[in-house]
Amino acid sequence: MNKIIDGKETAKQIRTEIKEEVLVLKEKYGKVPGLAVVIVGEDPASKVYVNSKVRACEELGIYSEKHVMKAETTEIELLELVDSLNKNENIHGILVQLPLPKGLNSKLIIDSIAKEKDVDGFHAENIGKVLIGEEDTFKSCTPYGVVELLKRYELPISGQDIVIVGRSNIVGKPLAALLINESATVQVCHSRTKNLEEKVKQADIVVAAVGIAKFIKGSMIKDGAVVIDVGINRLEDGTLCGDVDYEQAKEKASYITPVPGGVGPMTIAMLMKNTLISFERTMK
Ligand code: GUN
Repeated sequence: MNKIIDGKETAKQIRTEIKEEVLVLKEKYGKVPGLAVVIVGEDPASKVYVNSKVRACEELGIYSEKHVMKAETTEIELLELVDSLNKNENIHGILVQLPLPKGLNSKLIIDSIAKEKDVDGFHAENIGKVLIGEEDTFKSCTPYGVVELLKRYELPISGQDIVIVGRSNIVGKPLAALLINESATVQVCHSRTKNLEEKVKQADIVVAAVGIAKFIKGSMIKDGAVVIDVGINRLEDGTLCGDVDYEQAKEKASYITPVPGGVGPMTIAMLMKNTLISFERTMK
């Protein structure tokens, strides 16, 4: 049995669906969705991510603007840029790549993005709406991608015991909310969790999002569990690996996401999806 959850292929399917929908909407309204991507400073990983997002837009027929700002940019300058993008009718999604350089208050900047254009789903109000299960919000892209992968592989969520290892605002917390809304029983573990192994071992679905290479060992996985690895870590030899010891965990899991090619490609696909959703909302 093939137990690999192919995020690359699933993301490709989603991108194809979006591309077709963009064409239909272009025909109907004479307009296309628009995404503004803002990068401040010289973080090499951020540059790679931002370029992938712009490339994805080009592939899907989504209009995009890349705003490159110096590391010395002031908060006022950045707030002014966000304000102009908030008012720009050709822009339906705004994304400020994180982390921001020291001295810039990320929370202040993110919450200055119009919540109707917050396609990252990072605005406090959108996160709050996800928590209470409201629809007129944006789901954060990585958690949205994880749920979409489970659904497209027809893996049950309702009633499942799910352990998420990692409690970040970007992944762990919003993912817990989405999965609770899907009627899962969710436990969020982190660095202070007691008896982590015991907890992970009783999970039907394990989600690793701690940012530590190979942190989740095969011995921690219940036979037949579904393993979702959100981590992307670069090893000393330059290769990428997840937060799960893949070779070990693969022996125990019924389904498992590889790194790369698992959750990663889904994040950008769901960003495109959120941009499309935002556009459709303004056209209604
Ligand atoms: N930095 C790492 N992941 C993300 C993301 O999904 N969105 C933004 N804006 N910054 C990030």
